[in-house]
Amino acid sequence: MKKDQQLRAFEQYVSAYDANDPKIRLKIEHSFRVADLSEGIAETVDGADREFAWTIGLLHDIGRFEQVRRYHTFVDADSVDHAQLGADLLFQEGLISEFTGNSLDMERQRLMETAIRGHNAYRLPEGLTEEERCFCDILRDADKIDIFRVMCETSLEKIFDAETEELRASGVSDGVKECFLGRRAVPREVRKTLADKTVSHLCLVFELVYPVSRKIAKEQGYVDRLLEFPSDNGDTRAWFAYMREHIWT
Ligand SMILES: [Fe+2]
Repeated sequence: MKKDQQLRAFEQYVSAYDANDPKIRLKIEHSFRVADLSEGIAETVDGADREFAWTIGLLHDIGRFEQVRRYHTFVDADSVDHAQLGADLLFQEGLISEFTGNSLDMERQRLMETAIRGHNAYRLPEGLTEEERCFCDILRDADKIDIFRVMCETSLEKIFDAETEELRASGVSDGVKECFLGRRAVPREVRKTLADKTVSHLCLVFELVYPVSRKIAKEQGYVDRLLEFPSDNGDTRAWFAYMREHIWT
């Protein structure tokens, strides 16, 4: 099926959910953006089918809609792993055919399933084929790039469900600083404070695989805006100043 048909099928699918719920709206917008970003990244990757990458991007968070309907939260730890839920709906319950008709052969379906199941993992599993890794990396890069936008366009108080005072007083834990210095993502269990959570999002920059992804992330300016973290905590202010100097170097 062509892109515009897939888009209509997607809009039809999400129309069953409450568009007045800001959580639903946010995920619809995120899905469109990740689709376009995936296509743009795929364009720079030798041999990657950009339309297929677009479809994976569009459907990667399909599990979010059922997650919100059933559990009223995006916190996987409090509800369900949304990547597995989405992949189960698409490939075990056959939802994929609503979006792509018969246009995807089994091999493509398996490829898409691997990318969707792995999109929110801290690390990808060993033993992926080159093609699997390629589509996983494209999707994971696109998703991270759009997370920077979401973090900027929604207040941190709302994202973390916290008071401004708590946010402004929070410090950065040593374990989180080590991850930044090691230029790697922060494992969930290392994050302790609200500032830690912000730094952990910034560390996603280090996980971007494709050069074009870094370029897009930098040009969008959201990372630099996140680095303007308002704080009353002297150590946190100094730490963010350090990160501003070093994140892109
Ligand atoms: Fe996701």
